[in-house]
Amino acid sequence: MAGRRVLVTGGAGFVGSHLVDALLARGDRVRILDNLDPQVHGSDRRKPAWVPGDAEFIQGDVRSPADVRGSLRDVEVVYHLAAAVGVGQSMYQIADYTDVNTLGTAHLLQALVDDRGGVQKLIVASSMSIYGEGRYTRPDGGAPTAILRTADQLRNDQWNPRDVDGAELVPAPTDEGKPLDPTSIYALTKADQEKMVLMMGAAYGIPSVALRFFNIYGPRQALSNPYTGVAAIFSSRLLNGQPPLIFEDGEQKRDFVSVHDVVQALLLSAEEEAAVGKAFNVGSGRAVTVREVAQTLAGVLGTQVQAQVTGKYRVGDIRHCFADISLAREVLGYEPRVAFEEGMQELVGWLQEQERPEDHVETHAAELAARGLTL
Ligand code: UD1
Repeated sequence: MAGRRVLVTGGAGFVGSHLVDALLARGDRVRILDNLDPQVHGSDRRKPAWVPGDAEFIQGDVRSPADVRGSLRDVEVVYHLAAAVGVGQSMYQIADYTDVNTLGTAHLLQALVDDRGGVQKLIVASSMSIYGEGRYTRPDGGAPTAILRTADQLRNDQWNPRDVDGAELVPAPTDEGKPLDPTSIYALTKADQEKMVLMMGAAYGIPSVALRFFNIYGPRQALSNPYTGVAAIFSSRLLNGQPPLIFEDGEQKRDFVSVHDVVQALLLSAEEEAAVGKAFNVGSGRAVTVREVAQTLAGVLGTQVQAQVTGKYRVGDIRHCFADISLAREVLGYEPRVAFEEGMQELVGWLQEQERPEDHVETHAAELAARGLTL
């Protein structure tokens, strides 16, 4: 249904801005609430050129109850995408992450509970990180008793999780029924956001949906932000003639989903009545190793620069997690359209058009190491 008044929190950001474009294209009236966080948008907090003139832009913060209330005026659909997104950073900026993500969502819900206005739908950006480790089976196909990845195992380069009897576990697609086990403050705040929205949505009859995004990549992915995703980090390393630095052994598996497919899921989730009250995985449904990411990008760029496998471990990292997207397929009619190789080409094409892709990987690594957050 087009022609609605929609609020996108975080609408100047990577995912939010693509959603804003899609909403405007189908005739919605869009308002953006975004604080233009300096870590993403630069110290001068410049509004990115991609924020369209025909969207209403409010520079404001989800940490401010007044900003949140003001942004909700006359709105029918709310997409809550504003969040702090660095997993590693969340392990030393604990209060900040809880403030922006958990308390920011609390302010949004408080405003809706105090005065719902015309809001008919609330969609929140959740994350695969809330699972902790993905699903695994024992080598014989049975269910494991536990998924163990202890400091001792990691020190001995035993990267794959083990069961209590020491059996090495085999990764399997992760479905929404996997028990949640957040392993970082970021993940914990994402679990909070999801739970708070679905709980209050049910209690007050506000139709709500949570989307558990897997590893999103694509044009407009923040490069100046050292806590951005691995595909953007590796691309900017390669464009700067630097080798990508691979943690562990590079065989860890993820599910890389194009921002365009994520927008498809966001649009569908607001339409489908059967989606209300539920959380959905949004991925590509394909498992890709970190080593494959480096290889594919090097191939796209036609570079001879070889990735370096560091054997280091980032505290809070999980080993494998890739999506079972059956539920989103069935209920939302979601179908990923962008193949991994094609999407990596688009990412690199966009990066090449940028002025000078910066590379903050060394600073980031040093920050984590100084705090004992790498092994
Ligand atoms: C995390 C979150 C996810 C979030 C995403 C982007 C978890 C489980 N998931 O994903 O919800 O959306 O961050 O904020 O916490 N890697 C390297 N070299 C690098 C950088 C990363 O080898 O220079 C490896 C990591 O060790 C990891 C993989 O690449 O194994 C993916 O890392 P990253 O892109 O940061 O995302 P996740 O940690 O999977």
